[in-house]
Amino acid sequence: MKIFLDTADVSTILTHFETGLIDGVTTNPTLIMKSGRDPEDVYQELAEAGVRDISMEVVGSRDEMTSEGRRLATKFQEVATIKVPCTPDGLYVCNQLAKDGTKVNVTLIFDAAQAILAAKAGATYVSPFVGRVDDNSFGGLCLVKDIANTYKMHSVETQILAASIRNVRDVGRAFEYGANVCTLPVKVFDKMYDHILTEKGLELFDKDYAAACKS
Ligand code: G3P
Repeated sequence: MKIFLDTADVSTILTHFETGLIDGVTTNPTLIMKSGRDPEDVYQELAEAGVRDISMEVVGSRDEMTSEGRRLATKFQEVATIKVPCTPDGLYVCNQLAKDGTKVNVTLIFDAAQAILAAKAGATYVSPFVGRVDDNSFGGLCLVKDIANTYKMHSVETQILAASIRNVRDVGRAFEYGANVCTLPVKVFDKMYDHILTEKGLELFDKDYAAACKS
């Protein structure tokens, strides 16, 4: 069960990385744009801080994605996971990079059929977009379950990286249904700690501890 952060906000990632609970980071062009930073500066700072798995999305034509993916993989070595879309060009690039031994994350997965193609293209990760499937009145978590069952039945090694997760409940369910990784917005990760009974229980223990020390 790996937890990635789905953001390009370096200072927030670094604060959370200190928890020892974060296994990697996923970025995409929207998240990079929101950070206002140059993508490679973001990757560099995260790699220097010890983040061992960073999804770096490439865009453009098949040749552009291949050469950019190879360049990033050479520069960032095993830290780089090259993210490509689930399109004919994206999966062609996935195949080429996987043959080089580069990790690839196939993103924008909305159907089990796409996950089958991505696995055949040698993807390390497939990213079903749970929240966006739900937004369109289909079951995002059912998609995770369908992919997991299919992969299990055929001993596929590609890992399911549940993305577009919007709430804590979906994190638990995604892992229960077979996701290997959940990539989370920071606010969802932070809420995973919370439970009203933990707060209440702790309040009581603190009070009782103080009383015990007094007596
Ligand atoms: O990792 C993909 C994710 O960033 C998409 O999330 O909330 O924009 O659907 P969202």
